[in-house]
Amino acid sequence: MKRTIVAGLVSIALASPVLAQESVEVLHWWTSGGEAAALGVLKKDLEGQGVKWNDMPVAGGGGEAAMTALRARVTAGNPPTSVQMLGFDIQDWAKQGALGDLNALAQKENWDKTVPLALQQFSKYQGKWVAAPVNIHSTNWVWANKAVLDKAGVTTMPTDFDGFLAALDKVQKAGFVGLAHGGQAWQEATVFDGVVLATGGVDFYRKAFINKDKAALGSDTMKKSFDRMAALRKYVDKDFSNRDWNLASAMVIEGKAGFQIMGDWAKGEFLNAKKVPGKDFLCFRVPGTQGMVSFNADQFGMFKVGAGSQAAQTKLASAIMNPSFQSAFNVVKGSVPARTDVSDKAFDDCGKKGMKDLAEANSKGTLVGSMAHGHAVPASVKNGFYDVITQHFNGKLDSAAAVKAMVAAAE
Ligand code: GAL
Repeated sequence: MKRTIVAGLVSIALASPVLAQESVEVLHWWTSGGEAAALGVLKKDLEGQGVKWNDMPVAGGGGEAAMTALRARVTAGNPPTSVQMLGFDIQDWAKQGALGDLNALAQKENWDKTVPLALQQFSKYQGKWVAAPVNIHSTNWVWANKAVLDKAGVTTMPTDFDGFLAALDKVQKAGFVGLAHGGQAWQEATVFDGVVLATGGVDFYRKAFINKDKAALGSDTMKKSFDRMAALRKYVDKDFSNRDWNLASAMVIEGKAGFQIMGDWAKGEFLNAKKVPGKDFLCFRVPGTQGMVSFNADQFGMFKVGAGSQAAQTKLASAIMNPSFQSAFNVVKGSVPARTDVSDKAFDDCGKKGMKDLAEANSKGTLVGSMAHGHAVPASVKNGFYDVITQHFNGKLDSAAAVKAMVAAAE
């Protein structure tokens, strides 16, 4: 409002109403090429609706650094509008009362009917939707460079763990790195998800990682899983320490390494490098885990924000849940939709397989939450497991000691 004094009279001139532009601030860890490309789909969608996107990236796969940055923001009383989160972290923040209530939107858009129950157990807290799931990833995948395998004489993909070791051996003998790997705790835990499934099967995985059953954690099967980690360790190059996961993917993409065990976000890197599934690269389940799926889902937790920010926050949540957005986004990201009503038409062969495997595992009861990515146990226990797995991988614990330490970590 502008006041002007004209010839002793006070006239009040109304300035033309300038509406502040709606905006969202989003904290996430999608900083690799493939991840950034996928996030770009969401940014563009929001910007198309006139909502400004304030980006708060915190690099570091698996999101540990992002969660630390988030804690600082919430402690300072200034949370972002929305935060990329995994499984139990959502529940931890909801318990602390930091998350908002999306029920009105969820009811209007029928989220209860379209989001798989395995995800809803993380998206909802005490009956309230607190997060919007954007995808379903899965961790028990292997990514391979086809030309490298051809040169090494690996003609069929291994279907059991010993066959995998034999293939790694051939690749290594042909002069390539067998297994591209980044030495970070969450990456070792990601490999371990697949190895434990291959070694003990779904029931064992559930007992050990979800029920924290001491007999399972301390068992010979767990020891065998650690022995298998040590076997894989032999095919990793000497520079693996602290390498980012996407740089390990790049080793496979560029034909320096044969294989990488990594969640299907790795596919986003291959696609971003213009590689074609089936022709340049291959995707298959960690040998011995076909029919089983260890999943994680990225969800956008919606924080309690002031009245002025709520409309934009609701637009963000609604954009995330839109079925055609879920198709467009997940095609780029490497994941599959977090809704059951999205067609697989736009997806490549790896994506189609991902959707089919997920549906099958869901109906057969072989779908389990990824320990490595916060969907089996809360961070307090997960971080304990991380320590043990990574110390063992770095030769600081033998398999027998690692098994004992897993039992202790679960306590
Ligand atoms: C996972 C997340 C994926 C991917 C990956 C590596 O935890 O679910 O979306 O970003 O970390 O950064």
